Amino acid sequence: MTTDTAAQAAYVVAALLFILSLAGLSQHRTSRSGVVWGIAGMAVALAATVGLASRSITATGLVLIVVATAVGAGIGLWRARVVEMTGMPELIAIMHSLVGLAATFVGWNGYLDVDAELSGSLLGIHHAEVFIGVFIGAVTFTGSVVAYLKLSARIASRPLTLPGKHVLNIGALAAFVGLTIAFVARPHMGLLIAVTVIALALGAHLVASIGGGDMPVVVSMLNSYSGWAAAASGFLLANNLLIVTGALVGSSGAYLSYIMCKAMNRSFISVIAGGFGTPAAAAEEGEQGEHREISAEETAELLGNATSVIITPGYGMAVAQAQYPVAELARKLRERGVEVRFGIHPVAGRLPGHMNVLLAEANVPYDIVLEMDEINDDFAATSVVLVIGANDTVNPAATDNPSSPIAGMPVLHVWEASNVVVFKRSMAAGYAGVQNPLFFRENTQMLFGDAKQRVEDILRGLDTLDAPARQMAGTTG
Ligand code: TAP
Repeated sequence: MTTDTAAQAAYVVAALLFILSLAGLSQHRTSRSGVVWGIAGMAVALAATVGLASRSITATGLVLIVVATAVGAGIGLWRARVVEMTGMPELIAIMHSLVGLAATFVGWNGYLDVDAELSGSLLGIHHAEVFIGVFIGAVTFTGSVVAYLKLSARIASRPLTLPGKHVLNIGALAAFVGLTIAFVARPHMGLLIAVTVIALALGAHLVASIGGGDMPVVVSMLNSYSGWAAAASGFLLANNLLIVTGALVGSSGAYLSYIMCKAMNRSFISVIAGGFGTPAAAAEEGEQGEHREISAEETAELLGNATSVIITPGYGMAVAQAQYPVAELARKLRERGVEVRFGIHPVAGRLPGHMNVLLAEANVPYDIVLEMDEINDDFAATSVVLVIGANDTVNPAATDNPSSPIAGMPVLHVWEASNVVVFKRSMAAGYAGVQNPLFFRENTQMLFGDAKQRVEDILRGLDTLDAPARQMAGTTG
């Protein structure tokens, strides 16, 4: 078997492993094995690619590959080890920017180093690939950099509203189509420079125009773009695995974005077109009435008398790393015969599945962790809801205030329960920057402080409640 055939066979194996990986990652129970399949696929892919390259490469080239792989793997390992779960979205965004940058370079290289054997229509196809690859790569690059800056709060998350922003976007797309036709007919470096500049500006503008609340969809959209950018590079490099992998990433990212848009009641087209058609909503600032406070001891008492409790965690639970005491609280309440369930909003936290991962980490049983749609009708029959570090995802303004920036986004109907206790440190707004009328409802009480400390206080409060019963058991036993 020649090296080429062996490498192509290895590519098929790697592609299958990537498909298995995606299948595994689609469910909590199988997600670990999904990651292992993915690592195995990438190892096979890397080995086969280096094997292929080594046929025609100089010793210096080989050394460069080894050094690049070692440096890349070193940085990847370091970042993966130190990144906080709450910092994952920005890490993902910056990684996507690297894919975009690589695709742009591959495109430029394809222009500067044209295969001498290409001629006629094949040469035309090659130039179209170069142009499309550079365009998608450059849009992905700057779009991801702006997403990174927004997600890490280095720039404001509110949408940029340039006058005639949609005309700018449509103009950029029209210019891309026109330039592509011109480039295929008569390739010229000036045209490639023009499309690179237009695409860099378009990527930055598209993402800058999207408001904070829609950022989850943007992250998964950029994931999709980075896949298509990789697939475009695959065509240029005549690398089948890159085409297959790029298409897998591109289509799964697009599908995830679609699911998230549906979950947030956002128009898919509107989000990918940089907030096209999104109403310029007025954010209501300031407090909207009186709020009531509750202490941890009083919350423990309330829970002690409850028959059913729903916990709705959000970003603040992740910041406080409160999942372990929260899991302990759920366990204790269940031991006391209280029905305890978790209600998970699809965009709670800062990345898809954020809350599920934290709860799984703390060994909360899967069967009491329910999705929003599964639990939303049950709040009305619930004694106590604990809103732990969640804000936008439990905001009633989304359902009853059409001028709210988050109007129409499905939310957890926590306010329908008999009692709601909101854990947060202040009256500050959530990620979308919108005030939350829930805090001023009659059945809501605020428990201020760090979520982890407050839940630990409640655990102690429950122990105190149980102390007389334990003492009694001790004297009679
Ligand atoms: P948010 O609306 O972000 O609210 C989190 C709340 O946690 C804040 O009100 C904050 O209030 C509180 N908090 C922060 N640290 C805390 C701590 N140590 N202890 C107690 N409370 C603390 O959270 P959410 O309801 O989970 O909504 C998620 C938001 O992020 C949505 O707008 C969503 O669109 C967006 N987003 C989601 C994703 C994905 S895919 N999940 C990605 C990017 C953005 P204080 O500051 O007063 O404590």
